[in-house]
Amino acid sequence: MNSLAVNSLNTDAHKAGERVGLRSDKIVINGGKPLIGRIKVRGAKNLATKAMVAALLAESPSTLRDVPDISDVGVVTGMLEAYGVSVTKTAEGELTFDPSNVLAAHFSKIDALAGSSRIPILFCGPLLHRLGEALIPDLGGCRIGDRPIDFHLDALRAFGAVVDKSYEGIRLTAPNGLVGADIELPYPSVGATEQVLLTAVLAKGVTELKNAAIEPEIMDLIAILQKMGAIINVEPNRVIFIEGVEKLEGYTHRALFDRNEAASWASAALATEGDIFVEGAMQAELMNFLNIFRKVGGAFDIHEDGIRFYHPGGELTPVVVETDVHPGFMTDWQQPLIVALTKAHGVSVVHETVYENRFGFTDALIEMGADIVVHKDGLESVTRRVPRRRLEQAAVITGPTPLHGADIRVPDLRGGFSHLIAALTAEGQSTISNVGIISRGYEHFIDKLDALGADFVYEG
Ligand code: EPZ
Repeated sequence: MNSLAVNSLNTDAHKAGERVGLRSDKIVINGGKPLIGRIKVRGAKNLATKAMVAALLAESPSTLRDVPDISDVGVVTGMLEAYGVSVTKTAEGELTFDPSNVLAAHFSKIDALAGSSRIPILFCGPLLHRLGEALIPDLGGCRIGDRPIDFHLDALRAFGAVVDKSYEGIRLTAPNGLVGADIELPYPSVGATEQVLLTAVLAKGVTELKNAAIEPEIMDLIAILQKMGAIINVEPNRVIFIEGVEKLEGYTHRALFDRNEAASWASAALATEGDIFVEGAMQAELMNFLNIFRKVGGAFDIHEDGIRFYHPGGELTPVVVETDVHPGFMTDWQQPLIVALTKAHGVSVVHETVYENRFGFTDALIEMGADIVVHKDGLESVTRRVPRRRLEQAAVITGPTPLHGADIRVPDLRGGFSHLIAALTAEGQSTISNVGIISRGYEHFIDKLDALGADFVYEG
């Protein structure tokens, strides 16, 4: 019997500044039931939030469709409003932004919002263009590494910004305006690529960006900027040319679907031996995930309006996976998949090459009975893609190991969803606390669990 929350987590998502994830909310799950049913994924957390920042660059209003009702959207809504942008919910899943009265925000308002997200750093370029200065407090976001912003600040300096670091955060000015620059990223960083795009489009002259990220969310952001009047050429070999223009107009855009959420529910179907139709999921952006999903023993059917993910019966097969930048196997896909790999017959290896601390969530799985060893020095001694730091390299999962219920506290967004899947897979009862973090990136996940027949009680 499910007892859904009286105050659903996600109605708060649009309350500006709601710092979800700091609450004591928990969910008690009776595991061992397959998840069966249909759910819908909407716009990608990692596109919609950036598209909202892009609206700040325009002389006229913008409308974004398929906006997920998640707390990261609530945080960016609060920030835009703090800078005088009016944000209106104009239809279900649709937000309209009017940037005609952009003004400097009070630092305390921004500081209150920045603690739970990485997005504020992307306000730098637009604010420098609009106001001539930007004050960015310390950033939040998942603790999956030290999450430096050196690539961002180096890029902004290349455009002519002056960066002053203070105890409050960083203050940027552009005394001579922002001028197009030749920038080469040490690593194809998603955030740093977005930083350059959001700054270069109104800079004077041409910007050449080398070693750029080319994730689907990046390409969708480029499509949005092109609609606004930007001139952006994506060249072969991760090179992007941006010709600065005088002004940009508002856009109307339907956000790309959330491939991370789709992959998470697919892994949940596999781990619980279930059958989930994910409405809105598209094959093109999930190719490498689908190949691994099939190799492990999962099955999928591609439809025009979504993808059916299911466990076709039989044993799961161990795999070796290395995460990478697009079009490789995405780092955000490995956490939910690892839960399914605990049921595979043999030894799997997941090689993490993007973040240096992305296996912390496996502690809880081990407590539930999984056999997982995390090797900090990797499986090979070559220098890693991300400069300067060793990365926590590889999780070795030996299965099959039945999971049993446990009391778990969610550490981060994707790890937290893996804990949900593990509890749904385990025999017996689990209590998962701090689940509010999950609503940062998974829209209405409590309702979706209910729709898929999960046996749980949520205490919001
Ligand atoms: C984005 O993070 C996503 N977040 C992440 O999703 C995603 O995992 C990641 O891209 C990779 O695809 C958002 O879009 C909000 P990066 P981002 O810059 O931009 C290092 C989720 O769960 N680096 O590509 O922060 C960095 O430490 C989140 O939705 C620097 O060293 O990722 C990391 O090791 C998790 N200096 C690597 O690069 C910098 O200035 C990749 O980071 C910036 C990054």
